[in-house]
Amino acid sequence: MLLTDKYSRRFNYLRLSITESCNFRCNYCLPNGPDCSSRKEELTLAEIQRVVTAFAMAGTKKVRITGGEPALRKDLTDIIRICKQTPGIEQVAMTTNGYRLERDHDAWVEAGLDAINVSADSLNPGTFQMITGDSRLPSIMRGINQALEKGRLKVKINAVLLRDYNASELPEFLQYIKEKNVSLRFIELMQTGDNRAYYKRNHVSGQSVKEHLLANGWEQIERPITAGPAQEFSHPDYQGHMGLIMPYSKDFCDDCNRLRVSSRGQLFMCLFAEQHNNLRDYLQEDNPEALIDHMQQVLQGKAASHYLHEEFTGSTRHLAMIGG
Ligand code: GTP
Ligand code: 5AD
Ligand code: SF4
Repeated sequence: MLLTDKYSRRFNYLRLSITESCNFRCNYCLPNGPDCSSRKEELTLAEIQRVVTAFAMAGTKKVRITGGEPALRKDLTDIIRICKQTPGIEQVAMTTNGYRLERDHDAWVEAGLDAINVSADSLNPGTFQMITGDSRLPSIMRGINQALEKGRLKVKINAVLLRDYNASELPEFLQYIKEKNVSLRFIELMQTGDNRAYYKRNHVSGQSVKEHLLANGWEQIERPITAGPAQEFSHPDYQGHMGLIMPYSKDFCDDCNRLRVSSRGQLFMCLFAEQHNNLRDYLQEDNPEALIDHMQQVLQGKAASHYLHEEFTGSTRHLAMIGG
């Protein structure tokens, strides 16, 4: 049985968060103080295996491991291996802040990781530190450059577009991707429960970047059906691609193909849903059919779209809760 909703959207892409904890304090996400996420409630390896098995039996082909910061989990390589070895899963990807990339690249690849999205909101160490509170940009960039040289992982870089910090950095980012086979994506800043004032000050539409690219020889390209929501662009003079993630654009939700499971085992039908559904009871024994039936029922309540335009952020205080 395929997971579908009442708008005939098919879900073939699981975003699996494995921890809410993060060691960075990005000012658009987790600006305030100590981490109060609970490590104790994180899904166990056995529970993760059951989640992924059920999703795979219901047509999921791609798993993206997210956080918080997934590399904070000591058993990350086991998690990658479990995902990759589940029959039906063709691609295992991960979204990370990159702080362990330089050290752990080979172990992740050996465990079966296929692709990695690394957040780098600025290529300037000072600006990067102002945004993230972290001083390790040089190591993160060495990690990215090494991964590109080794050529085992498909690599993307995420930068949240921020008026006060990086909106003027487009030339530097373009220069970086000129000789590098990497996809660099600008993400429109999304409003969450915790960042309202910051959002108002810093949100910039990706439309002006898109117009700039199209006016300068970039062309929009087709993406596979398991792809996330980015629009991608290529240019004959550039080895890398540019991408734009524009959740405020019209029709963004029409081809939604992804579901989220949080590190506490909650099924989120949208990044900005009011409700989530606790799957944990279904993860205590091997009964994927029961879990699939349950999820298929819950999915009929999935809304056509988010209501971000109306400033509705659901129960989402920040995106580290559910891995973006
Ligand atoms: P890939 O195509 O697999 O690389 O996926 P991706 O671009 O979605 O992955 P990534 O984890 O790098 O996410 C980039 C940004 O897109 C994050 O900020 C996500 O929150 C955002 N995003 C992904 N899916 C959705 C979605 O369904 N709704 C909204 N509003 N944002 C999303
Ligand atoms: N708006 C847009 N992107 C965000 N991210 C985290 N919070 C927000 C937000 N409020 C991004 C991270 C990372 C991805 C998973 O989500 O920078 O690249
Ligand atoms: Fe899908 Fe919700 Fe994301 Fe829209 S906001 S693309 S409905 S998960």
